[in-house]
Amino acid sequence: MHEDLIATNYKESRVKHYWDAFVLLVTTAVAVEIPLRLSLRIPLEGGWLIFDVFLTLVFAIDMIVNFFAPVMIDGQLVADRKSLVRRYLKGWFVLDVLATVPWDVFFGSAAESVRLLRLLRLAHIATFMQRLIKANVINASLLRMVFLAFWITLFAHWCACGWIALGAGSIGTEWRVDSTLLYIRSFYWAVTTIATIGYGDIIPLTPIQTVYTILVEIIGAGIYGYIIAIFASLIAKLDVARNHFTEHLEKINTFMRLRKIPPDLQARICGYHEYLWNSRRGYDEAHVLADLPESLKLQISLFLNRHILEKVPIFQGASNDLLQQIVLNLKPRVFTPGDYIFCEGEIGEGMYFISRGRVEVVSKDGKTIFATLTEGNYFGEIALLMSQPRNASIRAVDYVDLYLLERDTLESVLKKFPDFQAHIHELAAKRQAATGLAQGS
Ligand code: CMP
Repeated sequence: MHEDLIATNYKESRVKHYWDAFVLLVTTAVAVEIPLRLSLRIPLEGGWLIFDVFLTLVFAIDMIVNFFAPVMIDGQLVADRKSLVRRYLKGWFVLDVLATVPWDVFFGSAAESVRLLRLLRLAHIATFMQRLIKANVINASLLRMVFLAFWITLFAHWCACGWIALGAGSIGTEWRVDSTLLYIRSFYWAVTTIATIGYGDIIPLTPIQTVYTILVEIIGAGIYGYIIAIFASLIAKLDVARNHFTEHLEKINTFMRLRKIPPDLQARICGYHEYLWNSRRGYDEAHVLADLPESLKLQISLFLNRHILEKVPIFQGASNDLLQQIVLNLKPRVFTPGDYIFCEGEIGEGMYFISRGRVEVVSKDGKTIFATLTEGNYFGEIALLMSQPRNASIRAVDYVDLYLLERDTLESVLKKFPDFQAHIHELAAKRQAATGLAQGS
């Protein structure tokens, strides 16, 4: 039931995501089109007019959508009509009205620049970016870089359009033969001026062009410095997990060099870390979950570990309650090839479930292999259930991911679920009998 609810929420907000993305695409086209058309003095007719009517319609529909479409706020889907209307009226409504109404119809074509009001819609992009970041579909730093690149390009485009509108300075006549060439050359001027490169090959000729150039230079210098700083920090953050892990590894390497750890042991330690990186990007599951409230911890643990328990035959048909109790208490453990998880004759402190990799059930001297257990198998239950020492040793064949269920937890679960207790005892007795291994054998 709960999962269904999450799925519906997700679906509804996804449709809204697609619509918003479409509206932003249209807005971007407008942000490019209007300044360009105004600067090149292209009249609003033919295809341009059709596009204008189309975008007025899109913006108007979007306003209706904003009044009624449920939105996600703090992870909750708000669908209540009154709250939605109030929220929109208090938020984007005024801006959207200014951007949607075709003002020049009222003011006449003499006031065509009022169309620039349409650009107010671009304000939605920041919110859209935040939503994409929250949706966590791609790396947040990468997303920020894409948006930053988008804004810089748009800004350079506006500067180029302004430059054309003011007469394009000393751009030669060979570039003025058609609008595309004139635009390309002006865009080049804008980029070199914003980036403070300023080759001086295109210079202002009139006082107003000079003032405009000074403004673009001043704003450009600020923006350029800001962009470089932001890009540097975003690149550093691009792969936080890897940076963190590399730093950790460097510390360990320094320590090993300093303490002259033997090379083969160093190689094993490096191999272990490589495995941690490849299997879980260096994250320690217990550490990541530590700060979460119990309910979320349960859901994540269920999501991560349920498939392990589903593969374990003893849990087939077990109640949800029982699985939850166990899943919440599983402790992840990693062993490297050749490690002994425990040895024959030891007191049992817990039983293990294999999530990945292989282990061998071996004799005390490690020479006789009784069985090889893989993903979905479990071991170490006999000592706990029969109150006897371990009847065999367990050795990792490859890197193994295990989940440990400690003795106390198992005992408390068994007390609560007597049916399961009988079932697991029966299976343990069968395994013990089948293997012919008993205490001291
Ligand atoms: P325990 O005695 O606690 O510790 C050793 C474990 O190895 C034992 O529980 C069983 O879970 C497991 N085990 C022992 N012999 C075999 C076998 N032949 N096949 C599979 N598992 C075994």
